[in-house]
Amino acid sequence: MKALILSGGKGTRLRPLTYTGAKQLVPVANKPILWYGIEEMVAAGITDIGIVISPETGAEVQAKTGNGERFGAKITYILQSEPAGLAHAGKVALPFLGDSPFLMYLGDNLIQQGDLSYFLQQFTNQQPEALILLRQVDNPSAFGVAKVDDTGRVLELIEKPKNPPSNLALVGVYFFSSVIHHAIANIQPSARGELEITDAIQYLIDEEKPVTACQLEGWWLDTGKKDDLLEANRLILDTYLKSSITGEVDAETNLSGRVQLGKYSQLVNCTIRGPVIIGNNCYLENCFVGPYTSIADNSHLIDTDLEHSVVLEGAKIAGIEKRIIDSVIGQRAKLTVAPRRPRALRFMIGDDCQIELA
Ligand code: DAU
Repeated sequence: MKALILSGGKGTRLRPLTYTGAKQLVPVANKPILWYGIEEMVAAGITDIGIVISPETGAEVQAKTGNGERFGAKITYILQSEPAGLAHAGKVALPFLGDSPFLMYLGDNLIQQGDLSYFLQQFTNQQPEALILLRQVDNPSAFGVAKVDDTGRVLELIEKPKNPPSNLALVGVYFFSSVIHHAIANIQPSARGELEITDAIQYLIDEEKPVTACQLEGWWLDTGKKDDLLEANRLILDTYLKSSITGEVDAETNLSGRVQLGKYSQLVNCTIRGPVIIGNNCYLENCFVGPYTSIADNSHLIDTDLEHSVVLEGAKIAGIEKRIIDSVIGQRAKLTVAPRRPRALRFMIGDDCQIELA
């Protein structure tokens, strides 16, 4: 059994973060989203992993993730020259996959820990040509959607339908036998110009090949948008964060709940209410950091109130009078108060940023 992680694509919905980096490397609880999937695969016993990368962000994904040694896996990188669809990524990966059955995993998806092993077991026991995972959602039009009969048999799959036939979305985790390559070779690009994996699975259904579906009961997040990213951060901190203080905490600082503080980081006169993770080499002075906040390495926060937010590496926040909530602050971003008159707001805002002033 091999695994194929899709880490190419454009990441338009997470702009501006994805102008400068891969969306799959955006951190959740200070760890790239992509790594959660790799760790789950290794835990399920799949260690031969291919990662599909794009020309724009591939080098960064490769440099950060490496050859797999750190995960106990062997990683092969596969370049997809353009984001021509999920099935196209499968086609490009054919030399890596050969005729092996494989798990296809969308690199921006997160599913509850432990679930992957269970579904792999189902695939191995049932031996279908494809096993898909479905989850009830409130906004099915944003996903691939399945129409199933009373017995749970999959009748039809439609990609991002305007009038969804159900609220069962396709989760970005699929198990395939090598028969999927025949289906991929026989489909045409969709209206949005992509070779859709949804259409390839539909091809198998039309050919009356065994396609089975399992309902996912645990949580699932497609981290493609800001609010989903914050929700993933909340869930991961809530479920997995363990307290550990490696950095320095002064006598005036008050810690409550689960707090993780990395090496060479310093807290001076702060109140931190977990679950909160603060990376290495950070400096926080006169700050309140509320629940569900992740602060990445080398960040600098002074006189700041922050809650339910994700701060990326090397960001600097100082002297903002109002509490910052529900926010994602990009790498090396600076959010400060100008010390000079006239008192005014001064911005240097990148493309596609969202600023909400109270
Ligand atoms: O998240 C679940 C949904 O994922 C499913 O319900 C849909 O049926 C499926 O088509 C997919 O929809 P998205 O619109 O969310 O896919 P997205 O374009 O975001 O791509 C998913 C991942 O695959 C992402 O990590 C980027 C990567 N990708 C995407 C394309 C189009 C590639 O590696 N190559 C590509 O050509």
